[in-house]
Amino acid sequence: MVERQRTRVLFDLNDPQLHRNRYAYYRRLRETEPIHHSPYGFWTLSRYDDVDAFLRSPQASSSVTTDPAFAEQRGGPDSPAMRSLSRWMLVKHGEEHRKLRRIIARAVTPRAVQRLEPEILRIVNRLIDDMGEGEVDLIEQLAAPVPVAVICGLLGIPIEDADKCLKWTNAIANIIDPLITPQMRDAMNQAEPEFSAYIRHQMELRRAEPRDDVLTMLMAKDEDGEGLSDEDVIAQVLLLFNAGHETTINVIGNSLHALLTNPDQLELLRANPGMMGDCFEELARYNSTVQVILRHLTDDLVVSGQRIPAGDVVLAILGAAHRDPARFPDPDRLDLRREGVKSLAFGSGPHYCIAAMLGRTEVCLTITELLRRYGRIELASTELEWHTRFNFVLGLKRLPLRVAYRA
Ligand code: HEM
Repeated sequence: MVERQRTRVLFDLNDPQLHRNRYAYYRRLRETEPIHHSPYGFWTLSRYDDVDAFLRSPQASSSVTTDPAFAEQRGGPDSPAMRSLSRWMLVKHGEEHRKLRRIIARAVTPRAVQRLEPEILRIVNRLIDDMGEGEVDLIEQLAAPVPVAVICGLLGIPIEDADKCLKWTNAIANIIDPLITPQMRDAMNQAEPEFSAYIRHQMELRRAEPRDDVLTMLMAKDEDGEGLSDEDVIAQVLLLFNAGHETTINVIGNSLHALLTNPDQLELLRANPGMMGDCFEELARYNSTVQVILRHLTDDLVVSGQRIPAGDVVLAILGAAHRDPARFPDPDRLDLRREGVKSLAFGSGPHYCIAAMLGRTEVCLTITELLRRYGRIELASTELEWHTRFNFVLGLKRLPLRVAYRA
């Protein structure tokens, strides 16, 4: 049994050390107390096997909306943002989640993703054309515009409206931020009704004339009449934008940053572009964008011999699990030839990313095209700023590069 300790703070989201040297901080936590009960009241898990098993366990619930303090900070349970969030599949648990996920999985299919590939290639190449040569910011000029355009393409929403959708998505995305400000609260509650009205209008167009797109499929009922209400369709659309935007930007940014700071690995990939699909998992492991997943327990749970009581909050630290030497020998090395890598970048268990194939396709196509089009890509600054806004998510604010077509 791991002793339950209440005295030591080994993990604090606001600790500057965490932001200064995240992987050393995680190592100390994993080596000192891999299953840690913080004086702040929550638990942390930092070993790969514990994190993976925990996320799969039926007691681990993501239903944050049942917490009155959480709702209050976001405008109360009847605020537009909270009403939408409480319908999102991401915060549903057990049978309710399984049912919702089954319906959504009928729309977000591998076929829908495959059909989007030529469109993704067009979007990426148009943005690369616009970037040209010289000094660029990869985040602003490429990584950020790709995901929102792709989600519009997936749903069949006109690309001209991508900027509007992006503005609404950015405001609503703060809903998962644990350190929410009154400005964020007001902005998300203003954005939600506008975004919902827009999606409702798109649904009316499809009701008049069904289309071959994921929004039409989300509105469909099956032969037993099982399907989503209009409110549920709208909420899941907002979820798709929110879950698919910031994550994909950061996987593109973090992966490219990892390659640029490991030039031998960059050269390896340049020489073997066909490797991209195989080494995606290693790039996603090395500096994963989702660093922490929060759950609360519906029932007592035993993790590697340690009992964690019902009602407690557990932080599954993917970033620490990804550097666990018991799972990944020499874990701080980026090794694109590493075999059998199964990262937890898309989560694990019932909430495993429903669009992992889409995220992976976007990242692989973007990086492959960047390396194909530019013979030279260099960091234009060594002073890089990482987001502190989303404490559970790791990503760069800007990625200044110098790019040239010829090597
Ligand atoms: C490479 C980019 C992506 C990464 C790293 C990523 C990561 C994740 C992770 C870690 C989860 C699990 C969250 C949890 O267990 O609490 C998740 C769930 C989810 N993701 Fe992604 N994601 C990506 C791209 C996308 C895209 C492009 C979409 C949609 C357009 C999307 C939609 C979703 C949805 C709807 C869920 C909730 C699934 C459920 O609750 O059953 N993701 N994602």
